[in-house]
Amino acid sequence: MKQEAKERLIFALDVDDFSAAENWVEQLHENVGLFKVGKQLFTRCGPEVVKMVQDRGGDVFLDLKYHDIPNTVAKAAVEACKLGVKMFNVHALGGAEMMRTTVAEVNAYCEASGNARPTMLAVTILTSSTAETLAGIGIDRSVEEMVPRLAKLAQDAGFDGVVASPKEVGLIRAACGDDFAIVTPGVRPTFAAMDDQKRVTTPTDAISAGATALVIGRPISAAKDPLAAAGKILAEIKTALAG
Ligand code: C5P
Repeated sequence: MKQEAKERLIFALDVDDFSAAENWVEQLHENVGLFKVGKQLFTRCGPEVVKMVQDRGGDVFLDLKYHDIPNTVAKAAVEACKLGVKMFNVHALGGAEMMRTTVAEVNAYCEASGNARPTMLAVTILTSSTAETLAGIGIDRSVEEMVPRLAKLAQDAGFDGVVASPKEVGLIRAACGDDFAIVTPGVRPTFAAMDDQKRVTTPTDAISAGATALVIGRPISAAKDPLAAAGKILAEIKTALAG
């Protein structure tokens, strides 16, 4: 998967209103290729916010983590394609049939419309989940067992990659090989505060471990000069890719 460094830096648009989102995109689009629009911003602003990012030269990672019956997820995914997003995700816990149906409908839509097919990612086990969380829902397996298992399920269904903790990259690479995207949040450059992230990795370590793209929010948004912070992270990504 050949990608420019800028496309590997995804800024989390963790704001609750349109104009704040617009300010971030205007400020950062030189150094940031993709902007992650999640449940809060999308529920507040809707598809308009996707269009706003695109109009300002950015691409969108639509982070809505679909999880429903196969037909419903597939239809929602086709709507995401119509918005022209570059990337979107579902919960792999929705199962193989849900993911296969989604891939089939997205492929059919993109072929018929001539739209580029978005990168389709699956969430394996949320990093907020522990062994206890899994036991509570009747899964008597460890997180370390479930993450590669679900990643492989997503890959076999035709998905392009997963969203995962940088700590899980090795397990996923071993299960899914090199041609599989791994998008990682929980990344902290050495110049930034930890915030509420506990198990963090630097951009260099995440890329060197095999992450294909990084989701970064506060290390950029809380910096005195956010564009410069994004520039430093971009430089770090380029160096790690070259090394
Ligand atoms: O500000 P920060 O860099 O921590 O933001 C990371 C983004 O990635 C947020 O949008 C957060 O919701 C998301 N995320 C995360 N950890 C996960 C999954 C998603 O921080 N395990």
